[in-house]
Amino acid sequence: MLSKVRIEPECAVAAANLPRVMDNVRIKVRENGPYLVTGAIELIDADGNPYTAEGNVVLCRCGGSASKPFCDGSHRTNGFTATERATAVEE
Ligand code: FES
Repeated sequence: MLSKVRIEPECAVAAANLPRVMDNVRIKVRENGPYLVTGAIELIDADGNPYTAEGNVVLCRCGGSASKPFCDGSHRTNGFTATERATAVEE
């Protein structure tokens, strides 16, 4: 079952502008690790360079990767821990 989560207004605006090709994208938060993105995506880095991918893409969440925005496994050795969880919204 899918739960609804609260999305900050600035994130909602950004999500509304995403191309619809990303309708079947799944993002899994890995325990103390990266985001695992599954599906056909377009990723645009901080310099505006677009990347397209289909399948699995692993995005750095710890900030330690030498190949950002992609995970290079550094989270395993840099002490990264993350305890945050998405919070479902009551309707
Ligand atoms: S999450 Fe893997 S290197 Fe940052």
